Amino acid sequence: MRLIIALLAVTVGVTVAAEPAAEPAADPAVYAQGELLYHAAGCVGCHSVPGLPHLGGGRDNPTVFGTFYAPNISPDLEQGIGAWTEGDFFTAMRDGRAPDGRLYWPTFPTMAYTKMTDADIHALWVYLSAQPAVQAPERAHEPKPIYAFPGALNLWRIMEFRPGPLSPEPGLTDPQQRGQYLVQAVTYCDQCHTPRSKIGRMRRGRYLAGGANLGKLEIHPNLTPDPEAGIGAWTEDDMVRFLTTGEKPDGSFAREDWVMHEKVRDSYSRLSEEDKRSIYAYLQTVPADDFDPEARWGEEAAP
Ligand code: HEC
Ligand code: HEC
Repeated sequence: MRLIIALLAVTVGVTVAAEPAAEPAADPAVYAQGELLYHAAGCVGCHSVPGLPHLGGGRDNPTVFGTFYAPNISPDLEQGIGAWTEGDFFTAMRDGRAPDGRLYWPTFPTMAYTKMTDADIHALWVYLSAQPAVQAPERAHEPKPIYAFPGALNLWRIMEFRPGPLSPEPGLTDPQQRGQYLVQAVTYCDQCHTPRSKIGRMRRGRYLAGGANLGKLEIHPNLTPDPEAGIGAWTEDDMVRFLTTGEKPDGSFAREDWVMHEKVRDSYSRLSEEDKRSIYAYLQTVPADDFDPEARWGEEAAP
């Protein structure tokens, strides 16, 4: 008898998963917020590759730890996340885990997204759930063998992952607080622009002082207010222009073959002007640091 009940429970579970109840039409404001976040938070760059179906994944992300392929996150029941509940999505974004408990590789920047508000994660879910399902199979990741040992992700997590919504730094003005939220939870400027140790730990004592992706041979400049090494000479309008067009105060542009160009084009240019100003306001509050990522990694990153 117990067995029959258990079997019934399984059958019912499967039926529910295969035919999700019709969702009420999404609130247009929430949907629009989700669409903006899908772009501003960079999901688009990894999960919607030009020439491949929208949300079908497929972007390869070479890092020093290996190459990781963004999966299909369309509502397809088999190949996407169509069988997920909103709770599963919250677990992925907030806790960096799949519904079966597996930890995600940090190429999926959950160390930033965990800091998002419930409202923003919900808006992303509403947007994603309303997109068409696409067929696109997942590609297996290729971690470097030395990082592929069991427990590697647990170890990384203990060192680097701090789950839960952002706690605002004390003493910030409203725009600075908004900027902190964008920089740390949404646009994750700090994940690229902060130096890391060889094993990938962020060097928090040199916050935003510049980094590198040696998997792609790219240097990420110093964003602290240091006048020489950082962007202390930039005005707020300079930052708004850069995040809108990629043009720097000296008239040069972010290199087209490096990631910042794409980030500006597909993600940051979509932010409101007010949000761009908030990012600048927050960056001004970070301690100035004379670290020079070019001197540290330039040779290793030289093409
Ligand atoms: C830098 C690339 C990158 C960005 C940006 C990114 N992802 Fe991903 N995402 C990945 C990779 C790679 C994985 C697979 C991780 C793994 O399998 O360990 C993944 C996994 C996922 C998963 C789990 C899918 C599954 O089948 O388990 C979801 C959901 C997801 N991403 C949603 C998002 C959303 C929403 C955003 C934006 C807020 C986003 N991702 C931004 C690369 C990215
Ligand atoms: C995925 C990694 C990545 C993320 C995320 C990222 N950047 Fe960048 N950024 C780069 C790279 C690479 C460059 C170098 C581009 C170049 O100079 O051609 C760069 C250059 C810049 C520059 C030019 C600085 C200079 O002195 O030339 C500024 C300013 C900047 N980023 C600000 C930001 C801000 C603000 C954010 C978040 C809203 C951000 N970046 C997010 C990788 C990133």
